[in-house]
Amino acid sequence: MYKSIRPKNLDEFIGQENIKKSLRIFIDSTKTRDEALDHTLFYGPPGLGKTTLAKIISEELNVSIKQTNGPSIEKVADLASILINLSKGDILFIDEIHRLPKTVEEVLYSAMEDFKLPIVAGSRKSAHTIVINLNQFTLIGATTRFGLLSPPLRDRFGIVYHLEIYSPEELKEIILRDAQIFEIKITDEAARLIGLRARGVPRISIQLLKRMRDFTSVIGKNVIDEELVGKAFKDLHIDDFGLNDLDRKYIFNLTSRFKGGPVGIEAISTSLGEDKGTIEDIVEPYLIKIDFILRTPKGRIATNKAKIYSKKFFELEADASESNKTLF
Ligand SMILES: Nc1ncnc2c1ncn2[C@@H]1O[C@H](COP(=O)(O)OP(=O)(O)OP(=O)(O)O)[C@@H](O)[C@H]1O
Ligand SMILES: [Mg+2]
Repeated sequence: MYKSIRPKNLDEFIGQENIKKSLRIFIDSTKTRDEALDHTLFYGPPGLGKTTLAKIISEELNVSIKQTNGPSIEKVADLASILINLSKGDILFIDEIHRLPKTVEEVLYSAMEDFKLPIVAGSRKSAHTIVINLNQFTLIGATTRFGLLSPPLRDRFGIVYHLEIYSPEELKEIILRDAQIFEIKITDEAARLIGLRARGVPRISIQLLKRMRDFTSVIGKNVIDEELVGKAFKDLHIDDFGLNDLDRKYIFNLTSRFKGGPVGIEAISTSLGEDKGTIEDIVEPYLIKIDFILRTPKGRIATNKAKIYSKKFFELEADASESNKTLF
């Protein structure tokens, strides 16, 4: 049987305390007012729980949730057929909402604002607009790219939350909870170490836990402990900071090739041969969080911490090649 690790209600959701506190208030007051919850926007890096929170809201309010995403609503008619089918209080969840086509977005404005849907009917000559009244619904939008949302769309969300990267302690808690659901044996210390290296992202902590579980069968153990975690991280090329090969290449390029910056994202992306979005969404949020880089209007800058790391790491590399020389 597949066991879901997705938290089902606000109490099961770990971390993001401010969001939980305020959502609790909004949810409770919505229930007493017999109205739909205000339109809500979640933004932040991938894997922090945006989709999970949208589903939790629908569970807590006991309403249906229709889930879709920006690029798949190609035409106004696609949006219209979704909206017309929503019952009072229902949630429409649009993931990647920054990727909605412009024409669709414009129709969404009036649907959000006064629950009316203007539809152009008839042929060119006899074209006229009819307005369809919609049931009061809640739009929940999610995006990793707040900056790409158009201001008119942004302004129509009454509730806006920025999801923050999690602390290692919160990730440890998530790991212990997930291990229990999966019936994986893990020591407290092992969970702590994984939490430290999960880059602040619950999805990564879950992936790491699964890799560790794979390792238990490889090395014939039935518990994930400190020793196993150490070996697994070595094998996965993840260091004590939670940094992987791509992060190290980023830091190396920024500190040596670009002499610490400032350097633009395009140049970094070209030098790494990686898509700009991956760098902005996945690599940089964590490097910023651990004070390795700064995003400034002029470009990315390496901090002293990154420079020290870089020096240490690449000196280590040099030492290794030196010892290879003496070896052969
Ligand atoms: N606070 C949390 N407590 C426990 N598990 C969490 C928490 N946040 C996220 N998760 C788990 O992490 C995984 C990723 O969460 P989710 O899919 O909600 O992220 P997302 O922000 O929607 O990511 P994306 O931007 O890629 O769509 C899920 O398996 C979810 O169960
Ligand atoms: Mg999601």
